[in-house]
Amino acid sequence: MQEINHVAVLDFGSQYTQLIVRRVRELGFFAKLYSPEDLAEIGSPGAVILSGGPKSTSEADAPDIDFDRLKAFEVPVLGVCYGMQLLNIKFGGSVKASNKREYGAAALRPTCHDDLFEGISNDSQVWMSHSDTVQDLHPDAEVIATNQHGTPVSLRWPGRFFGIQFHPEVTHSHDGLRILNNFLLQAKNLQPFHIEDFKREMIEGIRARVGSKQVVCGVSGGVDSTVLAVLLKEAGVKVRAIFVDNGLLRKDEAAVVQSNFHRMGVDIETIDASEEFLSALAGKDDPEEKRKIIGNLFIKVFWDTVGDAEMLAQGTLYPDVIESASNAKSKASVIKTHHNRVPKILELQAQGKVLEPLAELFKDEVRELGAALGIAPDILGRHPFPGPGLAVRCPGAVDRERLDIIRECDAIFIGKLKEFGWYDRVWQAYAGLIPVKTVGVKGDERSYEWATNLRAVISEDAMTAEWVDLPAQLLRETSQDILNEVKGINRVLYDISTKPPASIEWE
Ligand code: XMP
Repeated sequence: MQEINHVAVLDFGSQYTQLIVRRVRELGFFAKLYSPEDLAEIGSPGAVILSGGPKSTSEADAPDIDFDRLKAFEVPVLGVCYGMQLLNIKFGGSVKASNKREYGAAALRPTCHDDLFEGISNDSQVWMSHSDTVQDLHPDAEVIATNQHGTPVSLRWPGRFFGIQFHPEVTHSHDGLRILNNFLLQAKNLQPFHIEDFKREMIEGIRARVGSKQVVCGVSGGVDSTVLAVLLKEAGVKVRAIFVDNGLLRKDEAAVVQSNFHRMGVDIETIDASEEFLSALAGKDDPEEKRKIIGNLFIKVFWDTVGDAEMLAQGTLYPDVIESASNAKSKASVIKTHHNRVPKILELQAQGKVLEPLAELFKDEVRELGAALGIAPDILGRHPFPGPGLAVRCPGAVDRERLDIIRECDAIFIGKLKEFGWYDRVWQAYAGLIPVKTVGVKGDERSYEWATNLRAVISEDAMTAEWVDLPAQLLRETSQDILNEVKGINRVLYDISTKPPASIEWE
């Protein structure tokens, strides 16, 4: 999407860099991450932001920048933390190294009127995370803000170059978004970012690449693969959408996915491989082994069905691209990598046959794109569901009986969340099985049955999660219905564990 005059964010390695991209997009402009070595790839940006980073500018292998090339863009530049220190050096100043890190809140005190701090009140809280500080400044540099101790925390150089020592992208910097917006207002030729423009460009791009070839894609009923399939359909290409039923789905899920795709006018091919999956899993109780079996079998079933693909489309998202580039390893990215980087796909990739049209979007933008494609809110609002399905909600070995029990408990819980208007307020919710038998009384008889755990969390990106304080009446009715209706369960527990240390799934 280089023709859009966008904001180039140069990644110097800070853990917050991805957030800068997010914030700029929230402000309505397209932003993309680049390595500082790749200035030639940027094209003509509307503004440039230099991120923070873990290194000290005094280290021999500290990342550098081609300053002449940066100046040649002739656009506003903002250096954040490490970015500001680097700019100060490039402008002929220096940086004082320190191994003591300042971490936490500081008060921002603008020292003069500058557009960067327009509308920002004195002593607004900003978030620091640095050890080095700028010292000797070039005569043309101006200190435009200090902290409460009078230490410079923001500089301005000629040619609309700005530096800030704090992180505007984190919510602990209370006016951070406004400061970023003030910076972007300096850019004369930034174009607003509309998902509709994106949609149009994506469709044109897909048509140009695919032509009359057939495109294969796997669908799970989840948001990413659904939006992908509908986007392909909208582009008018020949789509073959394959849905693998691995026997680990929720109650009626295969039928729901079928009917959802039917509503959207996309035909899907359902492969019932549940028998194969369940027999491969029989007696296996090690979580990692279970995951491996499911992952490998999925790949086998999928490619046995597809045979030779002319083209393959994948729902890879921007965070996956960034993560694999920076080698960060979350569980989800490792699993995805497992599916998306098998030899068959690498081979297709080398032949230019892999299409990843969502690779520049964040999850919430995929939802926006889905809405722009006319996908119904109930489909776009479905909770995330893990690839290994109910297997990770059933500690120990899985079998039909256990899976059926989970399905019934889950359906009751999700039904209650919807009835009470809580489904859309939580990020993810489910019922799982605790395969431990405890004693109870059902009717007049002693019972000796398993327990179910209910889990409902809010999260932004699944890296952290909080349990949800659901209304007692919702939990009461869910428990009552499960205990009355589900054979095999005589105890209902509500999981009040945050992530970390607990994960969202039990395995
Ligand atoms: P955890 O359990 O790691 O889950 O806190 C974080 C999020 O990732 C989902 N999840 C998976 N998604 N394949 C997926 O596609 C997987 O193997 C997998 N494992 C966990 C989980 O549902 C939650 O949303």
